[in-house]
Amino acid sequence: MADGVTHVSEKAKEDEKVEDGMWEETFKSHTDSKPNGPSSISLDFSLPGVENVYGIPEHADSLKLKATDGGDPYRLFNLDVFQYEVFNPMALYGAIPVMLSHSAQRTMGIFWLNAAETWVDISSNTAGKTVFGQMLDYVQGSSETPQTDVRWISESGIIDVFIMLGPTPTDVFSQYASLTGTQAFPPLSALAYHQCRWNYNDQEDVAAVDQGFDDHDIPYDFIWLDIEHTDGKRYFTWDPHKFPQPKDMLQGLLDKRRKMVTIVDPHIKVDSSYKIHNEIRSKGFYVKSKDGGDYEGWCWPGNSGYPDFTNPEMRAWWASMFAYDQYEGSMENMYTWNDMNEPSVFNGPEVTMHKDALHGNWENRDLHNLYGFYVQRATAEGLIERSGGVERPFVLARAFFAGSQRYGAVWTGDNAAEWDHLKISIPMCLSLGLVGVSFCGADVGGFFKSPSTELLVRWYQTGAYQPFFRAHAHLDTPRREPWLFGPENTALIREAVRQRYALLPYWYQLFYHAHHSGQPVMRPLWVEYPQDTATFSMDDQFLLGRDLLVHPVTEEGARGVTAYLPGKGEVWFDVHTFQKHNGAQNLYIPVTISSIPVFQRGGSIIPRKARVRRSSSCMEHDPYTLFVALSPKRFAQGELYIDDGHTFNFDKQKQFIHRRFSFANNALSSRNLAPGSQFTTFSWIEKIVILGASKPSKATLKTPDGKESLLEFEFDASMSVLTLRKPGVNAGLDWTVVLQ
Ligand code: NOJ
Repeated sequence: MADGVTHVSEKAKEDEKVEDGMWEETFKSHTDSKPNGPSSISLDFSLPGVENVYGIPEHADSLKLKATDGGDPYRLFNLDVFQYEVFNPMALYGAIPVMLSHSAQRTMGIFWLNAAETWVDISSNTAGKTVFGQMLDYVQGSSETPQTDVRWISESGIIDVFIMLGPTPTDVFSQYASLTGTQAFPPLSALAYHQCRWNYNDQEDVAAVDQGFDDHDIPYDFIWLDIEHTDGKRYFTWDPHKFPQPKDMLQGLLDKRRKMVTIVDPHIKVDSSYKIHNEIRSKGFYVKSKDGGDYEGWCWPGNSGYPDFTNPEMRAWWASMFAYDQYEGSMENMYTWNDMNEPSVFNGPEVTMHKDALHGNWENRDLHNLYGFYVQRATAEGLIERSGGVERPFVLARAFFAGSQRYGAVWTGDNAAEWDHLKISIPMCLSLGLVGVSFCGADVGGFFKSPSTELLVRWYQTGAYQPFFRAHAHLDTPRREPWLFGPENTALIREAVRQRYALLPYWYQLFYHAHHSGQPVMRPLWVEYPQDTATFSMDDQFLLGRDLLVHPVTEEGARGVTAYLPGKGEVWFDVHTFQKHNGAQNLYIPVTISSIPVFQRGGSIIPRKARVRRSSSCMEHDPYTLFVALSPKRFAQGELYIDDGHTFNFDKQKQFIHRRFSFANNALSSRNLAPGSQFTTFSWIEKIVILGASKPSKATLKTPDGKESLLEFEFDASMSVLTLRKPGVNAGLDWTVVLQ
């Protein structure tokens, strides 16, 4: 009998193989063996009352996910996609299997913890209904309860699902953070501007570009070296002719308080004279093919092996390669870029690893979407270790998974110099922020093709208000450093970059909060206005924290944009003109090429640094200007966070300054939110600008030692702007300014 059963199942196996390709599948010229047989798991979720779902990055699609019935589902499978299309559910470089649902009543999350190829189908009983149709339903009383149904399907693994019940967006963010961790707190300089291209050719080129920024008075913090800087695409090495003295080059940057990033990809050239390869091979650290030999595929260096980053021993070894005595020519101002970590395999199925390749006992099929996560993790750990655990790392990765936020930044890969790609950068970064990854950006200018000058300027203006701000370009594109388009455009780009630098204190504070509590830095409006249905499908504007609303200009030749200012009874101040506007309205704003609309919420206080220098580190001790935007009830609140900008002392020794600013009853005060901390700063408050103010007869600064002094001020009656000159008080101390 037993024999018979075996016999039958083998026959069934044979039949299926022939009929369905279930035990072996062929894709173009590739064959996927399935030694464990066919498998898949799936679960349906019904979300009554829900019309809007978000998340499951990475897709180049709208923020609000679309119903997929009848079309392709959203696919999560980390892939190196050549020239990806926008407004498309196709899989891209990263995968975070987390979906948020939102209605005016509640926000919820579903975390489908599975790293195999995954598909998400969405259907909705309101999809396709016009607003008019919905109203008609309502009037006729014929409306059924809106409902969204979601089907998750993964190729292998188990069903392991977390439901995050909210009920507010903030609750969902902290619930998800408790499962996967929060955003790594980056060095402050990583939030500044990054200059990249494939490739800066040699040390002279680096020096010339670096000097170009000074000559044109444009700040920057990081210059990046792509794959051509290596000796024949052997990572951790330098081309001996083009980069003979890397330490001299790095020292030159260090002298200007600037930094560098070099690329270290996870494909390793198979070459018996390459130390890294020999060690990985001899330690048995490569991913294996189904036959048990080292898995090999084609990538930039030619024939390459792929280290098994899922192996903790391999990761520890990889991390040790970033030690200063291992990575020759490296210095403390050099950080890392992990590209191609899907992984990209040029001659593999869909340009990635074969699913039957083996990571120990696990097939790539089971954990594919986690490979890139572990690459970035091992690298970040290496950068921490090389400093003896003192310095915060900075690592940019292209592929990612749930939890990648703990290890650094991500970017949206190979976009194109097209207006649609500029537009899509907004929902792409918003979607990532909703699922924990706050440190996201898109290549400024577009990677493929060459942007028109107008597009380039608009991209700088947008990128300056997105978390990771880096210009990058393909090898074949003409050079596009900011000063190559005539003095007028240089000035426009300079202004955009300077706006970023002035706002770094606010960015830093937002990242501190993202690190601390998992709240996204770049937010859809509905996160702060959860009941305002007008915001539920907005793709063209966003909030930074609670207090800044940004509406980039993403149309060619735009003369104006219509921005939505949320909040009934609230007011918003244009940060360029200080003009006040009421909330809960669509506002047409004429625009010129000189800037994009940005508004500060009435009721907020934002710190800036008005003196922009050549890098963020050069601005460390500079004074602050506080922008106090009063609410209609003449109230405002804000914060200031300061630490050394680069070590873990903020965490391990609680070495930071955290102040709460409050404006109420005509007095502005600074109060300590970090009583135990001994950290001190040289920075002081040089100016306070109060928007929506009335004219006082005097302004008195009071400090706890009982001293009082009168402050000089100016009042612009036409704009209701009060400027208090030189309070001169240290930014780490208690003080109060009383207006009478
Ligand atoms: C692909 C990356 O997406 C791109 O940014 C990089 O320039 C090239 N690889 C070369 O390393």
